[in-house]
Amino acid sequence: MNTESSASSVAQSTAQDRQAPPATLVIFGAAGDLTKRLVVPALYNLVRARRLADGFSIIGVDSASLTAESWRKQLSDMMEFFVRHGGDEFHASEIDPTDWNWLAQRMSYLQGDFTDSETYGRLAHLLAKRGGASDNVGNVLFYLAVAERFFGQIVEQLGRAGLTRESNGAWRRVIIEKPFGHDLSSARALNAQILNVLTEDQIYRIDHFLGKETVQNILVLRFANGIFEPQWNRNGISHVQITAAETVGVEARGRFYEKTGALRDMVPNHLFQLLAMIAMEPPVSFNPDAVRAKKTELFSAIRPISPDDAVRGQYSAGRVRDQPVRDYRREPDVEPDSQTETYVALKVGIDNWRWAGVPFYLRTGKYLSTRCTEIALHFRQAPYALFRDTPVERLPPNIMTLRIQPAEGLYVSFSAKRPGPEIEIDGVAMDFCYSDYFEPLSSVGYETLIYDCFIGDATLFQRADTVEAAWWAVQPVLDAWAAQPPRDFPNYAAGSPGPEAADRLLQRDGHAWRPIGAGLPRRNVE
Ligand code: BG6
Repeated sequence: MNTESSASSVAQSTAQDRQAPPATLVIFGAAGDLTKRLVVPALYNLVRARRLADGFSIIGVDSASLTAESWRKQLSDMMEFFVRHGGDEFHASEIDPTDWNWLAQRMSYLQGDFTDSETYGRLAHLLAKRGGASDNVGNVLFYLAVAERFFGQIVEQLGRAGLTRESNGAWRRVIIEKPFGHDLSSARALNAQILNVLTEDQIYRIDHFLGKETVQNILVLRFANGIFEPQWNRNGISHVQITAAETVGVEARGRFYEKTGALRDMVPNHLFQLLAMIAMEPPVSFNPDAVRAKKTELFSAIRPISPDDAVRGQYSAGRVRDQPVRDYRREPDVEPDSQTETYVALKVGIDNWRWAGVPFYLRTGKYLSTRCTEIALHFRQAPYALFRDTPVERLPPNIMTLRIQPAEGLYVSFSAKRPGPEIEIDGVAMDFCYSDYFEPLSSVGYETLIYDCFIGDATLFQRADTVEAAWWAVQPVLDAWAAQPPRDFPNYAAGSPGPEAADRLLQRDGHAWRPIGAGLPRRNVE
């Protein structure tokens, strides 16, 4: 997202028409869900936005027994399915045949085992053949859309096969999906393993929350506007609430989720990215290292989270979006006495001059009452003297809510005088919705991220030290929870706002959670 390439935002396509340099994208996990649901639709959107060069090509690698033709067919069937039934992220009324063919004819498939060195020999051969083509300069982006256990092995195999070596100005880069490790020591070990083969600037650790326009906009909101920054500190803000409430359960991901849980799945990555964007100091520029250094600094200033400031929950049967749902413990591939948390709430303190004494409350959970991801900044109350003994004392403080999804926008609540001879004060709001100002972009959230890898802009990706600092902050909670199994699971009903203990976490400090979805326009409340 550096200014030079603020085209990192594909949204600015008309202003800065920048095509990515020719390159081959090698997707490990080509037959997997992520590739079908997000990577390929994102590539299609990049084709539509004219972001990919003629010399672009794709090699899909997977152990599934497919040919290039059957792989393409699977992918185009999936795109057609999205058109007919709508996808989670990809929406289109039709697939443009010219654009799809442009992409499809550049796809080849290599069937192979990720752990077998022979696969890499064959891949090297294919890439060498591609390198001979006049429109290809040998740039290769390896996308590891695979289970976490393969990350280190694939990078080592790529290194052994000489595929990560950069020469004659051609680059070799690797995208690594989340989860990056499952605790501090595994994240450190994985960093050490891949940094043995690659340099830091070849590694793009993805967090898809940073692909969201609303998340990228936080820095613009804070640093391109004069009105917010003077209030953006412990003098102006009493506390901050960050919520990522989901109305989905674990669906078919029981096996993965049992080992992961809500804390690992959402906190050191997605929620901390929101925390970093909202709380980091201004970087000196939008240069990737300037931005990432400020994020790491912020994570390093987080006081190690005390287990007393952490609440975990697991859902029992209930109703979500008017449908009955079962206990987490009865979901497929979930243990009948599972102790995995599907909800987490934390109180986070940041020990620096800007935020000392300002609690940041984070919560996320599956099967909650309303789908809503937002950051709510609660401002300090105005002094009461002027309004003593009036109902104003009961008025809520000013709250600025950044709606990340849905109904992307910004909502500010404040007080106003009700018209009339008496001073009567009422709560009112200003509401900015992106859709009122900008044309909606067809985006699955991966376009910007993939495009940024092609142009070499790492601003929106995690550096080794950032990932480790985030794990470091949550490690005390992981340790305490592992040592002490929960005694009250399940402790919240599906479709509710979460466990009661999460309310007590704020009550202790004289605060209360904003009702989930309070700032959403009615039509968006699911
Ligand atoms: C993923 C988690 O990384 O993020 C999921 O593994 C979660 O469990 C998802 O549902 C949330 O992302 P989004 O973009 O749907 O809010």
